[in-house]
Amino acid sequence: MSAVLRPAGFEPMRDSDLRAVLEIEEDLYEFPWTLGNFRDSLRAGYACWVVREGRRVIGYAVLMLAAGEAHLLNLSIAAPSQRRGHGRGLLHQLVEVAREQKAKVVFLEVRPTNEVGQRLYTRYGFRQIGVRRAYYPARKGREDALVLALDL
Ligand SMILES: CC(C)(COP(=O)(O)OP(=O)(O)OC[C@H]1O[C@@H](n2cnc3c(N)ncnc32)[C@H](O)[C@@H]1OP(=O)(O)O)[C@@H](O)C(=O)NCCC(=O)NCCS
Repeated sequence: MSAVLRPAGFEPMRDSDLRAVLEIEEDLYEFPWTLGNFRDSLRAGYACWVVREGRRVIGYAVLMLAAGEAHLLNLSIAAPSQRRGHGRGLLHQLVEVAREQKAKVVFLEVRPTNEVGQRLYTRYGFRQIGVRRAYYPARKGREDALVLALDL
């Protein structure tokens, strides 16, 4: 267990959170992660965190750490709980985890059409470093991903 104090409400994800996490995921995304994607992330030892209000899960994030690099794979806040600072708080929490694990940089992908996500990340300090062509599934064909990075 880490000795670092965490703000109240942020906790490592447990198997027992998966049902609530999947419910939020399926509500938010047209192409959601599956239960298997979350289970695999937990089993692979990725940093999987939830944010709670009381006992209820209202958001979650998944960070993969390897070879001095962190990759933010998922960051989501349930629709009724958005715009209250939880997304920024969770992002900050994951950046701190990356820093503790001695990562030098955090990478993430975001859809060019996701203006809210882009705003959250760029206001936090991420900068765009590239584009991955046809990265995401889309209604018609595929959509590019913007690749963003934050140096730690
Ligand atoms: C993106 C997301 C995580 C933001 O979470 P949130 O808790 O609503 O965000 P916060 O309240 O912490 O706001 C942080 C910043 O995000 C941006 N933001 C959040 N909601 C916004 C909105 N509706 N319109 C414009 N900017 C918005 C703003 O820059 C905001 O900072 P500001 O209020 O100082 O301007 C959340 O909207 C979400 O889960 N969306 C669906 C899933 C998703 O797109 N995830 C990111 C995939 S890469």
